[in-house]
Amino acid sequence: MSDLTTNYMGLKLLTPWMVASCSLSKTEDGIRRCAQAGAGAIVLKSLFEEQIEAGANKVHEYLWMPSHTEAFDYIGNMSMEIGAQEYLKLIEKAKKAVSIPIIASLNCISPKWWLGYAKQIESAGADGLELNIAILPGEPNHTSAQIEKIYLEILDSVHATIRIPIAVKIGPHFSSIPYMAQELVNHGVKALVLFNRFYQLDIDIDKMQLVSGHRFSSPEEMCLSLRWMSILAGKISCDLAASTGVHHGADVIKQILAGATAVQICSALYVHEIKHLEKIHADVEQWMKDHQINSLSQIRGTLSQSKSHRPEIYERLQYIEALVGID
Ligand SMILES: Cc1cc2nc3c(=O)[nH]c(=O)nc-3n(C[C@H](O)[C@H](O)[C@H](O)COP(=O)(O)O)c2cc1C
Repeated sequence: MSDLTTNYMGLKLLTPWMVASCSLSKTEDGIRRCAQAGAGAIVLKSLFEEQIEAGANKVHEYLWMPSHTEAFDYIGNMSMEIGAQEYLKLIEKAKKAVSIPIIASLNCISPKWWLGYAKQIESAGADGLELNIAILPGEPNHTSAQIEKIYLEILDSVHATIRIPIAVKIGPHFSSIPYMAQELVNHGVKALVLFNRFYQLDIDIDKMQLVSGHRFSSPEEMCLSLRWMSILAGKISCDLAASTGVHHGADVIKQILAGATAVQICSALYVHEIKHLEKIHADVEQWMKDHQINSLSQIRGTLSQSKSHRPEIYERLQYIEALVGID
């Protein structure tokens, strides 16, 4: 039997594939089905800052996008307690329904709400908390330093109140991802999720209006997190989970070779259904057997930049050999 276990922010996972925060993890039934299919852990659907602020208990599916003004169109007039209270009940139900770790998720754009609420999430039994910090820098007079400070303030406010481990799910848009990653670690983060996939914006040229782009990722999108996984692994002293474009067993293996502690999967479970986790499991085990690998820890990070004899090739943004000769 192959050893697929991993230790992710102090939690023992029997398999390194988690279900990412999405609507599959917003009901007890969905959570149970993900666990039955072999998820190592489940990140619950996020509670949105706007949900708490406006006190709504129902927010439209696609509101996980950052700072989207339409968020406010969908928010009802329910009392603040309801949405937040239902979320706490979901944590309690999930903990009773399954034995794998349950990670709660908050979608934050400011530090103001989280002190009290994070404490309640911990008391409801969550094993960990993932902060999806999604700030869209839309103004030319907002500096990178100002925006990065908000990330750290959010993290500080939560870290000061709870003892359960905290992960931060970030987007790829920083001038220096390694600097930001290290800052988050310095402020107490136990794991980073690379990366959030933001709402895809598109334009309908017939109606001449904004529309939503592809809702689900494609496997090709994984290259971005694979690059940063291989650069950060071994340099940043926290666990790293890959997210976006992890669809198949081969993708899991690539991310582990690059240095991932674990991966998060969402779109593939919508495209192929939750049972697809079983196929991923079978494919990873088969690969391990074919390559005589007993444990994923044997290969974790072996293709990261820090283990490479030619670290410079990881930093080449325009790789001459690949581009020269293509007209
Ligand atoms: C329907 C749907 C709902 C989502 N809801 C959330 C959410 O509440 N919080 C969050 O952090 N990410 C949310 N996401 C993003 C996923 O967690 C994940 O980061 C993203 O889909 C990229 O991973 P993938 O390529 O495996 O789909 C959602 C994605 C989808 C498709």
